[in-house]
Amino acid sequence: MKVLNIKGNSGSSVIAIGEKIKNIGKYLPDDKVVIVSDNNVVNYYGKDFPEYPVIQIGTGEKIKTLSTLENIFTKLVENEVDRSYFILGIGGGIVCDIAGLAASTYMRGVRFGFVSSTLLGQVDASVGGKNGVNFLGYKNMIGVFNQPEFVICDMGLLKTLPKEELLCGMAEIVKYGVISHSALFSHLENNFMEAISLNPDIIEKLVYESVLIKSNIVNRDEKEKGERKKLNFGHTIGHAVEKISDLKHGQAISIGMLTAAALSQKKGYLSLNDVRRLRILLDNLGLPTSFACDTGEILNAIKKDKKRKGDVIEFILLQEIGNALVQSIPIDELCETLQASGTFDD
Ligand SMILES: NC(=O)c1ccc[n+]([C@@H]2O[C@H](COP(=O)([O-])OP(=O)(O)OC[C@H]3O[C@@H](n4cnc5c(N)ncnc54)[C@H](O)[C@@H]3O)[C@@H](O)[C@H]2O)c1
Repeated sequence: MKVLNIKGNSGSSVIAIGEKIKNIGKYLPDDKVVIVSDNNVVNYYGKDFPEYPVIQIGTGEKIKTLSTLENIFTKLVENEVDRSYFILGIGGGIVCDIAGLAASTYMRGVRFGFVSSTLLGQVDASVGGKNGVNFLGYKNMIGVFNQPEFVICDMGLLKTLPKEELLCGMAEIVKYGVISHSALFSHLENNFMEAISLNPDIIEKLVYESVLIKSNIVNRDEKEKGERKKLNFGHTIGHAVEKISDLKHGQAISIGMLTAAALSQKKGYLSLNDVRRLRILLDNLGLPTSFACDTGEILNAIKKDKKRKGDVIEFILLQEIGNALVQSIPIDELCETLQASGTFDD
C-alpha cells in the first residue's frame, strides 16, 4: 500500500492506494457512521461493508441531482444523524460527489471519507475535494470544495467493474499523462493491454502515478485559481458532449481531449504527431474519439460552461504530450474553429 496526502484549506486527506475495504475500520470512528452507496455497489460489496446504516442511491449521471441530495438529507434526519456522525461514501464518482456534498452541507458539515470503487473514482473523482451535483442538466453546477478525511483505493474492487467503466477511468489516466507526465503516457502506450486486463503491477502504478499528479496539483492550487485548471483538459467539450449524449463521463472526455488536441494543433502549439499518438492510444483503449451531432448543440452547451467568463472561456491546450497551457479563448473563436473543423458534423 502507498499513501499520499492532500493538505488543503478545506481539510486534509489521506489517500491509501492499495488499501483493502476490509480494513476500513482503521479509518472510521468507533460508532456513529452512516454509509452512502449505490445499488450496484451494495449488490456486489454490501457484504463487505462495516455494520452501519446504508443510504442507497440509484445509479447513473441522471441521479446526480439536488433531488437525490434531498433524499439523503431525509434519510439522515430519519436516522437521527447529528453533527457528530461520519458519512462514508462507498462507490464510484457519482456516489463520492453526492456523498461529499451531503456531508459538507448537512448541519453545516459533518466528517466524511470515501472507499472509491471505480477506476475513474480512484484516479480522479474521489481525490481533490470537489463535491457536487448537476443542475438543470449542467455538470457540477452546485457544489463545494471540501476534502474527504480519507480515500481508500482498493484495486480489488475493480474486478467487478464493467469494462466500459474501466475504460472511462483509463481516459482520466491518459489526461494526466497528456497534461503533465509524458512518461506516464508512454507507459500506458506500452502497456495498454495489461492495463485493461488489470495486471496488478501495471494498474497499481497507473493509479499511484495519477493520484500523485493530482494530489501535487491540488496541494499547490486547491481552489483552481491557476494550475488545477489544467486538470480540466478535454472537459469543456467533454462536458458538452456528456450533456447532449448518453455517453459516460470518461467516454465524453476522450472525445473532448482529442478535440482539444486538434485545436491545439490548429493554433500551432502541438505537433500533428502528438495528436496522432493521442488518437492511437485512445483507440487502443477502446475509447471513442468522435461523435456525430449538430455542432450548434455542442456550442450551446459550451456556452453554459462554468469556466466561461463573459465572452471568453478558459480552455486547456497542449504544447506537447506532457505539457498543457491554460488560455482564454473568445467563445466566438472557439465556436468558429469547431464549426470549421467539422468535428461534430452529422
Ligand atoms: N469530483 C471530481 O473531482 C470529479 C472528477 C472526475 C469525475 N467526476 C464525476 O464522477 C462521475 C463519474 O464517476 P464514475 O465513472 O466512477 O461513475 P459511477 O459512479 O456512475 O460508476 C460507474 C458504474 O459502475 C458501478 N460500480 C461502481 N463501482 C463498482 C464496482 N466495484 N463493481 C461493479 N460496478 C461498480 C456504479 O454503480 C455505476 O453503475 C461523473 O459524475 C463525473 O462528473 C468528479
